[in-house]
Amino acid sequence: MGIEQKTHFEVNKAKCIQCGMCVNTCTGMVIELGKDGYPTMKEFERYGWKGCWRCQHCLAVCPQGAISIFDKKPEDSLLPPPSEMGNYMERLIVNRRSCRRFLNKNVDPQTITRILSAMSAAPTGGNSCNVEYTVIDDKDRVKEIWKLAYDKMDLCAKKHIYTSSFSDFYYSKMKQSEKTVRKNDLLFCGAPHLFIAHEKCEGKWTEDSKVNCNIATTYFELIANAFGLGTIIMSYPSDVLQEIATEAGKMLGIPDNHYKKLIVGFGYPEIPYSRGVQKDRTSKIHRYTKTRQESSIIPNEEAAE
Ligand SMILES: Cc1cc2nc3c(=O)[nH]c(=O)nc-3n(C[C@H](O)[C@H](O)[C@H](O)COP(=O)(O)O)c2cc1C
Repeated sequence: MGIEQKTHFEVNKAKCIQCGMCVNTCTGMVIELGKDGYPTMKEFERYGWKGCWRCQHCLAVCPQGAISIFDKKPEDSLLPPPSEMGNYMERLIVNRRSCRRFLNKNVDPQTITRILSAMSAAPTGGNSCNVEYTVIDDKDRVKEIWKLAYDKMDLCAKKHIYTSSFSDFYYSKMKQSEKTVRKNDLLFCGAPHLFIAHEKCEGKWTEDSKVNCNIATTYFELIANAFGLGTIIMSYPSDVLQEIATEAGKMLGIPDNHYKKLIVGFGYPEIPYSRGVQKDRTSKIHRYTKTRQESSIIPNEEAAE
């Protein structure tokens, strides 16, 4: 047995029906049916490509709840969503929008804990699970970071010094927006909490780290919205914290060699919306069908069907 192998893979033989689904779902191909017909885990060198991917698919797939791994018991897993979930998910996605006005109130910490717990299931390349989440869940702490960053940013703007993405024009537009949509805060939109997915960026895995973080950001936004919170994904404040107000950036406590481009502001939304928007991106859908072999890109009208 390899030194890293401590999977604690266990099969309850009283429950197992020897269906082999665990074998067929095992990404690392380390489960096989033994001579007695029950699943067993092969010896392997190390976690990852040379062994178990730690994905827990074996525990999740078993219709009998007969498999435990890493001391996780199947009865402690959440059950799959009901079939009507597609309708809810569709509504969630269509109704999700960026929130730029928040109530000045901390979100119930249990809700944040629940969201973060679910977030641990967000996919990562090779199931590396290396993405870290930094959450500033106290509004007064956010305010401290905000004040330091905002004052520096505003001072620099007076000298026409901006982040690489900004200019006199963009900054003046943002200043105007403080009177309406951003409520006195062009930087964090007054969000009482911040969420940042970040991962150590190393050599050839740098691009993967960025993708992992961006996926985590998206998962966070959707689940936070599902729990009734407002969210705003922002790249501008992270530019400010990394280029202009580095003292404030350090207050986040994220190491310099971590990818940290997107900051999600979240909190209870100030504005309730009554319906979804109706964005039309059909011209961006390139869909291939079986029946059309010559010109298989569907014209816009058909893609909308
Ligand atoms: C990568 C990314 C960066 C963004 N950065 C900012 C930002 O810095 N400030 C901001 O107010 N909105 C930011 N947004 C929000 C977009 O402006 C917003 O998604 C877009 O206007 C569409 O509005 P909706 O999200 O309500 O559909 C960002 C969104 C994404 C995906």
